[in-house]
Amino acid sequence: MRSKSPLEVGHPAPDFKLTDEHGRCASLNDYRGQTLVVAFCPDYWDPALPLRLAQLNEVLGRLPAGFEAVGISHAGVMVDLDFGTYGCVRFPFLQDRSSNDVVSRAFGVKGQEALFVIDGAGIIRWRQIGFSGPQLTVDELIQSAGLDKRDEPHSISRRDFLVTVAAVAVALTLLPRQAKGTVQESPKGLPVALDINGSRHTLNIEPNVTLLDALRERAGLTGTKKGCDHGQCGACTVLIDGRRVNSCLLLATMQQGKRITTIEGLAHEGELHPMQEAFIKHDGLQCGYCTPGQILSAVACVHEGHASNDDQIQAWMSGNICRCGAYVGIREAIKDARAKTLKESIV
Ligand code: FES
Ligand code: FES
Repeated sequence: MRSKSPLEVGHPAPDFKLTDEHGRCASLNDYRGQTLVVAFCPDYWDPALPLRLAQLNEVLGRLPAGFEAVGISHAGVMVDLDFGTYGCVRFPFLQDRSSNDVVSRAFGVKGQEALFVIDGAGIIRWRQIGFSGPQLTVDELIQSAGLDKRDEPHSISRRDFLVTVAAVAVALTLLPRQAKGTVQESPKGLPVALDINGSRHTLNIEPNVTLLDALRERAGLTGTKKGCDHGQCGACTVLIDGRRVNSCLLLATMQQGKRITTIEGLAHEGELHPMQEAFIKHDGLQCGYCTPGQILSAVACVHEGHASNDDQIQAWMSGNICRCGAYVGIREAIKDARAKTLKESIV
């Protein structure tokens, strides 16, 4: 069946009636008169999903009455498990796949992550298709959305106020991808010039933004992945002056004057780096989420002289976790690409 485009703002939201895993039923009609956020999960695994859910969950908990949300899963077990790890979810999590994804198809977002804000009359007032990662703290979201001033007189109607709040809060949670080299303005930001993959990126960022978030959300370089965001998985590995680092543990403002290499900067003049080619050749990946970090770490590992044999590779690549367990292929790829990698400049 030809897939439909996502419904536009101003379009009536299709009604739905679904049940959650406990058999509780919810329909769009149940929310008439309230502002409703409908959050669709993607049909692929993404370790950042629980974090995004938790953030939305927390924002919702601090919004005024009259604002509701439902999650809709049209995915498989992995996504449900990820979301299920958050027992504190404030909103129903409805199952669409038992109905053959009829609701996500009706919204035109089958298989995609998406958010719709639907007003009390059932009209779509805002939407976000796709995702690029949570950035701001809940306090920042609340403040940016104007909720800290909610007791002050407002010139717009309560419904418009709630819809505006929802749209801003959700928009900030799901910042759109930025084109390479663009500047993300922030009222609290400082101009920071970063040398990324040989290009100068001038970003306006707050002092507490990590390098990982600056790369992904401000510079639009989403090849660097966010796994744990705590320095434990290696998914966010990049090279700084040729040394591998966990970008989730570094402040972006402190990287001025250093050469940052991300996975986007590894290929040269349209040719993959030998390590990239070797990962493909030896099936050094399955889902691919850890792969950018694995490849950059592997390149550095070779240049460090820590890839002489299987034991060394295992020990010196142990900071890069692969949930799919593609370790055998990764090890073979590193051994295969070792000689060619040493002939390449590391940055
Ligand atoms: Fe896991 Fe940085 S995201 S170490
Ligand atoms: Fe899937 Fe490593 S986590 S390939």
